[in-house]
Amino acid sequence: MNILDSLKEVTGIGEDNKKKAVVNAVEDMDILEKLKQEHEEAISLLKRMVDSGSGAERKGLLKKIKSALVPHLRAEEKVVYDAILGLKDKQIKQDGNEGYLEHGLGDKMLSTLSKIQNAMSPEFSAASKVLKELVEHHIKEEEKDIWSDVKKHFSSDQRIEMNRRFEAAKKKIMVS
Ligand SMILES: [Fe+2]
Ligand SMILES: [Fe+2]
Repeated sequence: MNILDSLKEVTGIGEDNKKKAVVNAVEDMDILEKLKQEHEEAISLLKRMVDSGSGAERKGLLKKIKSALVPHLRAEEKVVYDAILGLKDKQIKQDGNEGYLEHGLGDKMLSTLSKIQNAMSPEFSAASKVLKELVEHHIKEEEKDIWSDVKKHFSSDQRIEMNRRFEAAKKKIMVS
C-alpha cells in the first residue's frame, strides 16, 4: 500500500471514530437530562397552542404536540415507570401509579382535542388549556417525586442505559 492509500485509510478510520463519538455522546445521556429536554419542549408547544390566535396554527401545533408527547409517554412508562414499579416500596409504587393515571388523562385530552373541528372554538380553547395545566402539573410532580426515586435507585450508568432503551422504545411508537 502506498503512502496516499495509507493516509486515506487512516483518515477514513478517523472519520468513523468521530461519527461514533457523536453517536455515543447523544446516547450516553442520563435519561433524566433527556426527559427534561422533552418536558421543556412539550410545555413550550402547549403554551404556543393556547396563546395562538389562528385555528390553522393551533391544529399544526396539536399535531406536533401529539407526535412529541405520545412516544414520550409510552417510552417513559416502559422504561421509567415500570422500572420503579418493580421496586418494593409502597410510596414509589404510588408515584408510578399516579404517573400512569395522569398519562391516561393526557391521552384523553389529546383525543378530545383531535375530535374538535374548529380550533378557535371555546371547546378547543378550554381543552387545550386543560391539557397544558395537566401536563405542567404532571411534569412538576414527576420531576420532583419520580426523579428522586430514579436517582436513589439507579446509578448513572443505569440511567444512561435507560436513555438508550427510551430512545429505542420511542422509535417503535406509532402516532395516529
Ligand atoms: Fe415525562
Ligand atoms: Fe410523565
